Amino acid sequence: MISIIGSGRVGASIAFLCISNSLDDVLLVNRTKSKAIGEALDISNAISENSNVSIHGTDDFSKISDSDIVVIAASTGIYLKNRTEMMDAQVRMIKEIANQIKKYCPLAIILVVSNPLDVLTFVFQKETQLSRNKVIGIASSLDSSRFRYLLSEKFKIKQSQITNALVMGEHGDSMVPIFSRVKINEKNALEIINEIERKVISTEIQNYWKSLRLFKSRSQFGIAKNTFDVIRSIIKNDELVTSASIVLNGEYGEKDVSMGIPVKINKNGVKEIIEIKLNESESKLLKISAQTIRDYMKSF
Ligand code: 2OP
Repeated sequence: MISIIGSGRVGASIAFLCISNSLDDVLLVNRTKSKAIGEALDISNAISENSNVSIHGTDDFSKISDSDIVVIAASTGIYLKNRTEMMDAQVRMIKEIANQIKKYCPLAIILVVSNPLDVLTFVFQKETQLSRNKVIGIASSLDSSRFRYLLSEKFKIKQSQITNALVMGEHGDSMVPIFSRVKINEKNALEIINEIERKVISTEIQNYWKSLRLFKSRSQFGIAKNTFDVIRSIIKNDELVTSASIVLNGEYGEKDVSMGIPVKINKNGVKEIIEIKLNESESKLLKISAQTIRDYMKSF
């Protein structure tokens, strides 16, 4: 069973993808019970006749006890300028959720989607002491999708003509797009994008969520699909190479922080942390990004 804590736009979209692809049973948990039930009633109608899955909504945490995977997509409010705006309330919330998960399903794999993503992934892992391979923050793959999309728009080509678009580090303003690995129509990006253009694209990725909010209230489908891909890889044991936030223990020279890096996912969660070669400037920026996340956590 997949439990999804928080049945707002993102939680409900993840549930819809899991159910419409018959991945597994889904439980939506929301502090407002009627919201969870309403989404479940709606998504229930997406179950085809030959599918065995079901979806239910509740405000009762004890019902998560059969979960193999728990997705945390809950939020205490809406931030406007920065994902860290409501950090204290979000940290309190994730600690409460951590206690419930420890109590009811300590063996589940946890996917953190709520912001500030890297801080919450770190706090959750420390609070529960679950193996770091089982606590995965989903966001860098979304940033990587945005990187690929923006490059495809710039060069007026299809997204499939851009390969290895990877973003590492914070899911926030210090994120690091790894230009040195990107291939644009088989050509190395560094050969065709100059430094000024790279800065412009980096800023566009950082601010993508704000630009999107000029047109719709919040992002929803991109993060839902990126989360679904990880859930599917775990359930089907179908290895997935992606980038995700995980607590580091010396990889990339970092400790005491969770941040986006390339990983291999399978039925056990993170099977492998992939250490790729970065150029000097990317390594420097990644160090700054790790420190930025650690600095947020000094306040608590
Ligand atoms: C996003 O990047 C707000 O973290 C959310 O769309």
